[in-house]
Amino acid sequence: MKILGIETSCDETGIAIYDSEQGLIGHQLHSQINLHQLYGGVVPELASRDHIRQLAPLLKGLLKTTGLLMSDINALAVTAGPGLIGALLVGVGFARGLATALQVPCIPVHHMEAHLLAALMTSERVQFPFLSLLVSGGHTLLVHARALGDYVILGQSIDDAAGEAFDKTAKLLDLGYPGGPAIAQCAQNGQAQHFEFPRPMMNKPGMDFSFSGLKTFVLNTWMHSDQSAQTKADIAHAFQEAVVDTLVRKCQRALDATGLTQLVVAGGVGANQLLRERLTHLGQQHGITVEYPPLAFCTDNGAMVAYTGWCYWREGRRIPTHIKARARWPLDAL
Ligand code: KG4
Ligand code: ZN
Repeated sequence: MKILGIETSCDETGIAIYDSEQGLIGHQLHSQINLHQLYGGVVPELASRDHIRQLAPLLKGLLKTTGLLMSDINALAVTAGPGLIGALLVGVGFARGLATALQVPCIPVHHMEAHLLAALMTSERVQFPFLSLLVSGGHTLLVHARALGDYVILGQSIDDAAGEAFDKTAKLLDLGYPGGPAIAQCAQNGQAQHFEFPRPMMNKPGMDFSFSGLKTFVLNTWMHSDQSAQTKADIAHAFQEAVVDTLVRKCQRALDATGLTQLVVAGGVGANQLLRERLTHLGQQHGITVEYPPLAFCTDNGAMVAYTGWCYWREGRRIPTHIKARARWPLDAL
């Protein structure tokens, strides 16, 4: 059984084929970074238009590199939400059209569940139940993953997502887009002791996050500084420390509260090296295994979508006949 996965929820066009016997047999990605860089963030209308341009050539390329024909595809899986509605509609329309032409089923996929399952695709060690830290451009979630489609949200951001905080802070410091890698790189030259930024919501019980205040803190610090390259690096360093430390400490709370012994990190911010180091250290201290998908499957991609489709198919879950794109779609309402 071969499932073609399609991802267009934000600024990456991803496409992949997952085979029930061989696993992932091919994937292609087109990033829109160059397109949005000029604006310092994703421009939704440009994103939708670019997905329209990229999907057919990506599919052609994927079939060529895998040596497959369209008729070899047995099912489609497409990200139906959450995400930018116009961008989602492009992928959903494309997938529905293909599925109708090929007379195969089309499986709607929740983007965050796909991020969460990426670790299962890439490591046999990962098994339900586990704790997942989902940190992307649009979401910051601590999730008790009990089984496929069965998720309890333990904590989430009440304002900016972690990735969004990186992106907005990078914009303030004129570091470019996407902000995560830009801040991480700039922070490498930063001095550890120069600035100490707050750890938002650490003094309150619970596992929710708030990152929007940090950005204001960055702005104030920057505006009242000498605005040198060194100061910029010091601020990037302090900002990254504050975000990572907050994420790690909330993970610790969630592990203590649930007694879970496996932590799975997913989403674009999961590519952050400092976060990985600190969580690995946390795992060593508490006898907990920490799993990360390889970097290519941490950020948006088609492979996680094809794999999620396969998981639903394998379990014989009901596949809806009509797929609707949904900008908002809570993970615990699956
Ligand atoms: O999961 P993702 O690719 O797309 C969404 O679903 O949002 O995540 C993108 C986010 C962006 O905000 C980007 O700045 C952030 O992930 N990101 C990082 C790093 N690489 C990507 N954040 C921190 N450190 C990184 N190395
Ligand atoms: Zn994502």
